[in-house]
Amino acid sequence: MAIITHSIQSCVDALKRGGVVAIPTETVYGLAGDAFNDIAVESIFAMKRRPFFDPLIVHVSSIEQAKSVVSHWPRPADVLARAFWPGPLTMVLAKSNQISDLVTSGLPSVGVRMPKHPMALDLIQKFGKPLAAPSANQFKKNSPTRPEHVLEEFADTDLPVLDGGPSDVGLESTVIGVNESGGNLEIEVYRLGAVTENDIRNCLSEYPVLKISQKTSAASPGQLAHHYMPKIPLIIFKDLAQAEDPLVLKQIPFKSFVDLELNANPVLAARELYSNLRKCSHSGCDYIRAFRSSAQSDQLWDAIWDRLTRAATFNFTK
Ligand code: TXA
Ligand code: MG
Repeated sequence: MAIITHSIQSCVDALKRGGVVAIPTETVYGLAGDAFNDIAVESIFAMKRRPFFDPLIVHVSSIEQAKSVVSHWPRPADVLARAFWPGPLTMVLAKSNQISDLVTSGLPSVGVRMPKHPMALDLIQKFGKPLAAPSANQFKKNSPTRPEHVLEEFADTDLPVLDGGPSDVGLESTVIGVNESGGNLEIEVYRLGAVTENDIRNCLSEYPVLKISQKTSAASPGQLAHHYMPKIPLIIFKDLAQAEDPLVLKQIPFKSFVDLELNANPVLAARELYSNLRKCSHSGCDYIRAFRSSAQSDQLWDAIWDRLTRAATFNFTK
């Protein structure tokens, strides 16, 4: 059974021994190990049953430390870091030699972020080195936003879980590539999150030529079509009429259902998203219904629906 702990020092000691610990962040809980120790990094992949083609994010506690894991720190990255760090933004930049191919899945780039949770920052500072950490869930499953979710994911291990309470944001970080050439700046969005395209655009308004594009899975190997899956199937409908339409129901091989609760405020909906999906999974019902309302139109809702779309077994809105 994984073990809840409140001791940052015991986690530092475990990391120094090359061990893996679950850490709280403001987005989701992470499964962390020494980013400079391949044995620790290999353990992360093994515990998550994660394929080696899916790169890990490196977590830092300062901009200086971020600079140590990249070969070049472009000015726009500095502007973005000063605006959004600590916070839910991961920047993909050219990696330094200190970061092994295991962390980046052989890519020449590395994803870097400074998490906002004070216990995560304290842990990284005390450890003194960056931490490689994916979300602390089994591959393709729901991300954990509470320590008890991590216990559920790693029940048959002795993983220490640093208890930092519920995650504030509830969605994994926005992942972007920052590419500057000539006077042109291109931001590639690999994963939507709480730092939105509008936030990034406003922050980089001094750049006259700014292109922001959304990238598909080829550019960011972890962005799979099926991901974040709850334990029972999730089915997305346009509205209640469609969910009750006999022609639609004929296509669904399940009987009893539970409706996913989504707060009308997207900040609160994001915070509770994975918790509510887990609750639904434990309801004893056969499947989860979710409805996309036209009122859910801003960019944070897009990030929430990006996760729900990947988590769905059937999607009748397409
Ligand atoms: O909020 C978060 O980002 C959480 C917390 C723990 O920090 N971490 C997280 O990590 O969600 P993970 O491993 O579940 O997702 C990281 C994703 C990868 O699947 C991949 O798509 C992208 O980030 N990524 C990482 N490094 C990359 C790189 N060098 N190039 C392109 N995409 C990269
Ligand atoms: Mg993940």
